[in-house]
Amino acid sequence: MTDPTGFLREEYDRLVAADLDWKLRVLEGPSAPHGVVDGQDVLILCSNNYLNLSNHPKVKEAAKQAIDEYGAGSGSVRPIAGNMTLHEELERRIAGFKRAEAALVYSAGFTANSGLIPQLVEKGDVVISDELNHGSIIDGVRLTKADRMIYAHADAGDLGRTLKEAQDAGHRRMLIATDGVFSMDGDLAPVDEIVKLAEEFGAMTYVDDAHGEGVLGEDGRGIASHLGVEGRVDVEMGTFSKAFGVMGGYVAGSEDLRSFALNKSRTWLLSASHPPAVAAACIASIDVLETEPQWVRQLWENTLYFKKGLQGMGFDTGISKTPITPVIVGESSVAKELSDRLLKDGVFALPIVFPMVARDRARIRTIMNAALSREDLDIALGAFERAGTGLNIL
Ligand SMILES: Cc1ncc(COP(=O)(O)O)c(C=O)c1O
Repeated sequence: MTDPTGFLREEYDRLVAADLDWKLRVLEGPSAPHGVVDGQDVLILCSNNYLNLSNHPKVKEAAKQAIDEYGAGSGSVRPIAGNMTLHEELERRIAGFKRAEAALVYSAGFTANSGLIPQLVEKGDVVISDELNHGSIIDGVRLTKADRMIYAHADAGDLGRTLKEAQDAGHRRMLIATDGVFSMDGDLAPVDEIVKLAEEFGAMTYVDDAHGEGVLGEDGRGIASHLGVEGRVDVEMGTFSKAFGVMGGYVAGSEDLRSFALNKSRTWLLSASHPPAVAAACIASIDVLETEPQWVRQLWENTLYFKKGLQGMGFDTGISKTPITPVIVGESSVAKELSDRLLKDGVFALPIVFPMVARDRARIRTIMNAALSREDLDIALGAFERAGTGLNIL
């Protein structure tokens, strides 16, 4: 008799044998730049909580108050009985922050991408995607009935060529989808050039600003603000799970976009709305971003200091333009060993290895945090220097 679930163990064993299985580290206490991981005090250099807003007193207080006032859960999907004043307020606030006409909040960034992209294009249309887009865009694209075309990473020239090919093939709607910041290298999509090309070819633009908001542009308004094309991206998608320090996704754009997305995205229609505490915490995070610009400033001061320190030691930090700084070491085994040594020395930063990046481009990916002090950064740099010297890569 065959074992119908035998593949579960076989597949897992294969991953373990190839050293490709996830070994989960456990955070004891809050996600904060000074944390406890697997029982050890560490500086956390791999969290997306860029501004440490998950621990901001105003954000925590808002979550607590919302529980007292509205309870623990929303009770339903929004189109039925789960549309609370808090959800509506959050959408007005995020639209205001992004200087867009309207916004729609999803349960996560992943469900925004996987729920909306397949609705924006259908048979006879084409979606044109950067080759290194995030998995949630890729899954959204896989769910479309439209044709798919891939252009070379962040290459506006290749995008132009692809758009021409798509136009010549007689596609009806064309959708260009790209991450704003690419999370493996910390580099940027040329969103300004992409917008120009889209306008020339009559294509729609969809930019995933997950690692851009709270980081780039005026007071963290994101990549469109950073590259001077605010108001010209058709769909600005984002997440509250990174710099905002909470959880949830959104799209911002026109009123038409909101009405369309609300009526068509199955991940929105068929999945419950945020618990009140989450919606209230997201609103409070927007408040903080709008009133306390020092956090974004500090994030960048820390970023520049840390990058310079790593580069000064001779580490290869790639093509990053953001607080995501990869430390590229080559072989996967070296990246893993470097990460282990850093952890023993009190710095938590994960290795990123093949197949997430090319075989010879394994790295430690560091993500900066606004709440790290200069002394913390010197401690982290010291750990990198000791580990790098010990491994003969410096
Ligand atoms: C570029 C990008 N898009 C989307 C997501 C998904 O966002 P969320 O965590 O809100 O589901 C992520 C998170 O890893 C991301 O990095």
